[in-house]
Amino acid sequence: TVGKSTNISWHECMVERVQRQRMLNQKGCVIWITGLSGSGKSTLACTLDHALLQRGKLSYVLDGDNVRHGLNNNLGFTAEDRAENIRRVGEVAKLFADTGVICIASFISPYKKDRDACRSLMAPGEFIEVFMDVALEVCEQRDPKGLYKLARAGKIKGFTGIDDPYEDPPEAEIVMRAVDGKYASPEEMTVQMLEYLEENG
Ligand code: PPS
Repeated sequence: TVGKSTNISWHECMVERVQRQRMLNQKGCVIWITGLSGSGKSTLACTLDHALLQRGKLSYVLDGDNVRHGLNNNLGFTAEDRAENIRRVGEVAKLFADTGVICIASFISPYKKDRDACRSLMAPGEFIEVFMDVALEVCEQRDPKGLYKLARAGKIKGFTGIDDPYEDPPEAEIVMRAVDGKYASPEEMTVQMLEYLEENG
């Protein structure tokens, strides 16, 4: 969709996506990590980013906290602002993937329709949704930034999981959840991710 712009047309350039992919010796894609605050999204994103670099693969992390310092610094946490946050990030991630980069997007992205809209921007197989299925109680206990405490005290309104919803992704390609009550380490999850990426080309 074109949105508010009128009288615009799509301009094709000479260099094709496949040529960039050949140059980088990799295929671009979007790895979309979703889950509650404190579920380990950013840690997994950074560990995976580093592991890919060590294997000679070019990746780039788009992270909620960071993107909200710049591109999306005019957005808050209402449903509309979260939707716009995710819409913009989806478009940016698509551009990265088009350049051949493995784009790792780590956002709470609590609403299914917003995540699905990002998925629909991508070709089949190029959007890999990773669900950090960590219980709210565990995230709240970790509380790395002390935000759950503030939310429980009513000092942050509309905090995901407390007084704002999180919709689980039923179609996630990968689900990271506890086995026998134990959560995998970021390194173990990264190995799982690398296996998935290799198996799927
Ligand atoms: S969203 O819902 O996808 O638009 O959020 P995102 O861009 O990923 O930003 C989440 C980080 O913002 C901080 N924060 C909040 N999170 C949830 N709800 C509210 N109200 C809120 N206010 C601030 C919080 O640090 C999130 O970071 P993570 O890394 O997820 O803990």
